[in-house]
Amino acid sequence: MNNSASLSVGEVAKRSGVAVSTLHFYETKGLISSWRNAGNQRRYERNVLRRIAIIRIAQSAGLPLIEIKQHLDKFPNTTISTKEWRQLSSEWHTMLTERIATLVTLRDHMEGCIGCGCLSLQDCPLRNPDDVLAEKGAGAQLLFSSTQATDE
Ligand code: FES
Repeated sequence: MNNSASLSVGEVAKRSGVAVSTLHFYETKGLISSWRNAGNQRRYERNVLRRIAIIRIAQSAGLPLIEIKQHLDKFPNTTISTKEWRQLSSEWHTMLTERIATLVTLRDHMEGCIGCGCLSLQDCPLRNPDDVLAEKGAGAQLLFSSTQATDE
């Protein structure tokens, strides 16, 4: 690594607008990487700023870090090219479109639930939208069982 072209964690924080603690968190999650110089100081390549910008954009769009990492792992080099960004943004656009549609449906189904609280498996449109559970057979069926994501 070229130390003269590298950045300290403080410089990365200042130039990216991201707190040092967040940079360390990203690093523990494998989203960015650094190395230690002879003085045992953490150093980053300058192109980490572009990677952090992409992470922040994805986070602001509501993507969980685990999904962001899965996408970024397709591009193991720190530098993400314009072509790679086009691919990433296209994938995220599709994902966001699907999530927006799900949220609109959820919002529309929620109107009848305001002030109710029954959460009835039979009657509540949030638990049984469009009565789809009846089509899946008897017994408990989970709403969004295949689309829920976990993240911190
Ligand atoms: S909470 Fe009662 S209908 Fe949804």
